[in-house]
Amino acid sequence: MSLLQAIQSGKVPAHVAVIMDGNGRWAQARGLERAQGHVEGVKAVRRIAEAACKAGVRYLTLYAFSTENWDRPRGEVDALMGLLVSCLHEEMPLFMKNGIRLRIIGQVGSFSPQVRQAMDEALRQTEGNTRMDLVLALSYSARWELTEVVREAAVRAASGDLRPQDISSRTIDGLLATSFMPDPDLLVRTGGEQRVSNFLLWQIAYSEMYFTPVFWPDFTEEMFYESIASFQNRERRFGKVPEPGRPLKADKA
Ligand code: FPP
Repeated sequence: MSLLQAIQSGKVPAHVAVIMDGNGRWAQARGLERAQGHVEGVKAVRRIAEAACKAGVRYLTLYAFSTENWDRPRGEVDALMGLLVSCLHEEMPLFMKNGIRLRIIGQVGSFSPQVRQAMDEALRQTEGNTRMDLVLALSYSARWELTEVVREAAVRAASGDLRPQDISSRTIDGLLATSFMPDPDLLVRTGGEQRVSNFLLWQIAYSEMYFTPVFWPDFTEEMFYESIASFQNRERRFGKVPEPGRPLKADKA
């Protein structure tokens, strides 16, 4: 039985989030420009998006560009923007063939009109697809997202639409950029670092973590399936003790 078949016979995580790290080091190790690592990174995005579809993952969220990434050298930022636009055009056949709906979370207002146009077009073209949502976190950081939630809650409270005593964890879920999907079951980070780098801080409260030293451009379908197999071998207790007849799941206050 292949690893793909083996994981399909178990509980496949509905939502996998990925911190795609190591493009720059992959390139530098080969004497190449860092931007070349991002070009290879796009190939890995294609590979892993198809792999996730095959495995039956419903939501795949990729940390493609953080709020902090704007502070990288101008040439690298420009290269990433160019790649993003070409990726949104060139990967359209892949999205349509696999039933992938594109979603974007982040401060889209920070992008140039050309990038935003490419985003809007891709979002519109894929909005009828239902097999898997590919969520790109672009100009995203969790602290930005949570600040927006607090601001929106304050505006609603000030206008009388929201009573402070009615604010619950579900209220916050509903105000997040990710409100259309469940929290990640599994968070994968490539590239060897073991940190979460301002990614989905609220949503990963009970996610299983999987860290691998492999640089993102070298991350294969098989390695992605291994991360799911590792997830399937863990017992998620959500802070509770297993009891017969009582399913273990996260509580929302
Ligand atoms: C982290 O590697 C990766 C990024 C900052 C960008 C991720 C981008 C891609 C995978 C390709 C572009 C895809 C889209 C959709 C735009 P790093 O540069 O931080 O690597 P390092 O830690 O080795 O320096």
